[in-house]
Amino acid sequence: MTGHHTTQHAQSHSPAASTTLSSTESISLLSLSLACIGILANTFQGDGEPLIASLALSGLAFAGTYALIRWLGPTFMRSGLKGVDMSKQTRRELPECMGAICAVVYLLVVIVFIPFPFYKDIVAATSGGGNRDVVLRVEEVQRGRFLHRFPHGKLASYLSAIISLQSIAILGIGDDLFDIRWRHKFFIPAFASIPLLVVYFVDFGVTSIVMPIPLQPYLGELFDLGPLYYAYMACVAIFSPNSINILAGINGIEVTQSIVVALLLAFNDCLYLLTPYPHPATDSHLFSLFLLLPFLGVSFALLWYNWYPARAFVGDTYCYFAGMVFATVAILGHFSKTLMLLLLPQAFNFVYSVPQLFGLVPCPRHRLPRFNKRTGLMEPSVTEWVPERQPKPAVAWMLRMLGRLGLLMVKVDGDGKFVETSNFTIINLWLVWRGPLREDRLAGEITAMQAVVGLFGLFVRHRLALLIFKEDNWGL
Ligand code: UD1
Ligand code: MG
Repeated sequence: MTGHHTTQHAQSHSPAASTTLSSTESISLLSLSLACIGILANTFQGDGEPLIASLALSGLAFAGTYALIRWLGPTFMRSGLKGVDMSKQTRRELPECMGAICAVVYLLVVIVFIPFPFYKDIVAATSGGGNRDVVLRVEEVQRGRFLHRFPHGKLASYLSAIISLQSIAILGIGDDLFDIRWRHKFFIPAFASIPLLVVYFVDFGVTSIVMPIPLQPYLGELFDLGPLYYAYMACVAIFSPNSINILAGINGIEVTQSIVVALLLAFNDCLYLLTPYPHPATDSHLFSLFLLLPFLGVSFALLWYNWYPARAFVGDTYCYFAGMVFATVAILGHFSKTLMLLLLPQAFNFVYSVPQLFGLVPCPRHRLPRFNKRTGLMEPSVTEWVPERQPKPAVAWMLRMLGRLGLLMVKVDGDGKFVETSNFTIINLWLVWRGPLREDRLAGEITAMQAVVGLFGLFVRHRLALLIFKEDNWGL
């Protein structure tokens, strides 16, 4: 792409490369948008058909994001939002924080979507829509229009989701602008989740978990976690965004992992919509789809630019935003354990990172794999140990242990002193196992691993669950 035919000394991208859409792109995006608008207009003839409206709006979200990233990339760079792609032969600066565009388009789309799922209710509650209820009987005057029939609770869930996502977008953009310290930003998602937790408290209030059969004789069929359940959900909100942000550093990986998780969550939602009888959880899974489909729309557009060789970076905004979309649907849909199954690679990466996150092993600003300019391949990046500064005995024992288990690359000199150890991320570990790989191959393999683990997780969730729980709530 641009990088290959610019000279060695080119400071940055070739400026004329890409601020406008080609005519093919314009025509495709325009046709897609027109088709989506047509579909959207059509939904008003029936009951509002919210699922179809959501699909159409997601198409619009894709087209909008695709065009805006192209148009605004250079503007972002001019205001300093740019980053160097560290794994390329030539030094290239790319627009950073493109996730902000995704977040804004996404938020606009879910706001525009608000009337659709409530279309039927609005019509029912206002006797035919708008202000047309001219004749009121005395007993109805007190209650105004039939607004007591309107599902305010559902609207509250939806609005709380929007507030949470807006808060996290602000945090993400702030972080991309000012590089907030890790320990300062870590807990902010918990605050962003407060609207969700309040709605959860009012709407569900379920704080008990179903016990596996072997434990039932001791703890009963349901075990009430009480307030701890809220702490647990706040932890989900902290974990999900942060864990996606640290499984990062090679072109495309932030977006592909999010797309895989979103697709699997949407697939899981569809299972509930396809049950032969109306399932009690149908509504929360529909709700989840309404939030996931536009997310997929903006993410695919972003992936177009972020896949190898990247023409734009996603920024922390995208990682936090993606994580919060998942936390939101999981909390309000009451399926946070399913989400955890889908985030197993992130969980592993998080736990694996602990020695560096907590400073037992020095943690450089960047832990992304090292680009070998000679071979053009990615290799594990390392922490170097000088003879004067060796790890403490307990840490040294742990490093040797991990090395022996094949979970770390460890190099020692003749005296048994540490020379270097690979950085503690799943991406580096993958390279330790697989040997040097080209960047896109590496991203592809990790994404495939995410998909396989996630599918297996869902399988366990729905099939094997029957072995240790009395029933699977999918009910087939
Ligand atoms: C997290 C990771 C860090 C990793 C970084 C890469 C932890 C604790 N932090 O930090 O180790 O190096 O993400 O995103 O695990 N970049 C590339 N190629 C890419 C993606 C990013 O070179 O494909 C570089 C660019 O210079 C870009 C920068 O990484 O500007 C973005 O880093 P940022 O997202 O700010 O890092 P953190 O999220 O703080
Ligand atoms: Mg980041």
